[in-house]
Amino acid sequence: MKPSARRRHYLMCPPTYFGVEYAINPWMDPGAVVDTRRAADQWEQLRTVHQKLGHTVHVIEPRPGLPDMVFTANAATVVDGRVLVSRFRHAERAAEAAHFRTWFARRPFRQVSTADRVNEGQGDVLTAGRKLLAGTGFRTERAAHRELRTVLGLPVVTLTLVDPRFYHLDTALAVLDEDQVMYYPEAFDEASRATLLALFPSALRATTAEAEGFALNAVSDGRHVVLPDTADRLADELAARGFDPVGVDVSEFRKAGGGAKCCTLELHLEP
Ligand code: ARG
Repeated sequence: MKPSARRRHYLMCPPTYFGVEYAINPWMDPGAVVDTRRAADQWEQLRTVHQKLGHTVHVIEPRPGLPDMVFTANAATVVDGRVLVSRFRHAERAAEAAHFRTWFARRPFRQVSTADRVNEGQGDVLTAGRKLLAGTGFRTERAAHRELRTVLGLPVVTLTLVDPRFYHLDTALAVLDEDQVMYYPEAFDEASRATLLALFPSALRATTAEAEGFALNAVSDGRHVVLPDTADRLADELAARGFDPVGVDVSEFRKAGGGAKCCTLELHLEP
């Protein structure tokens, strides 16, 4: 039997002011040339893919001077209609939080709070069934995991990242459905690898090249898995497990250390 998709609400931000203007992760080279036209096309293509799969895409207005605002996944964690707006680690992105807070505050969410601890939202916090998988090591503080538990009311599984190239959890692990994930084991410390093995014994594992190609920065609706169109082997593995892989080109966003998932914040509304 095919796994089943659930209709999702996503928040995206057009890459109008996108660029690589500073370096806060190892992928970013401020000397690199970003093709803004191409970035806009890739973003439109991603939005269209989500819409064609039946999902609703909400759009927040981009702001000049915030070139990473396109990566909406980092804006917040949204679970059961409760929103915990992020607190960014780096000064370069700190001003994004207020714009996202305003966006959430004007809409009928059950609760909108702002993180006290450094917390980069769905970049580091992924919902898997009724638990949260939360990354730490580079961006989100460990203490934020306790805060997530308190504010969102779900158990939190702490996972420690150790490879600076995979600085957010969503660069090293993707949740496919309630109890299936795919991940790159080498991005995690030993204790976290053991945790992942215990929780997801039959998980799909990505190779170094796939992880480097942002193949794990994928968006799943429970059946369709949107991932880079370069990840052929992983796409075949997904298909063999009944998922429908959907390839997209996110090459311009990779220059800033991002991919399909980074550009997509899931607004999880109902349990
Ligand atoms: N340049 C951005 C940063 O370093 C990229 C964010 C990618 N987002 C993500 N969810 N992994 O913060």
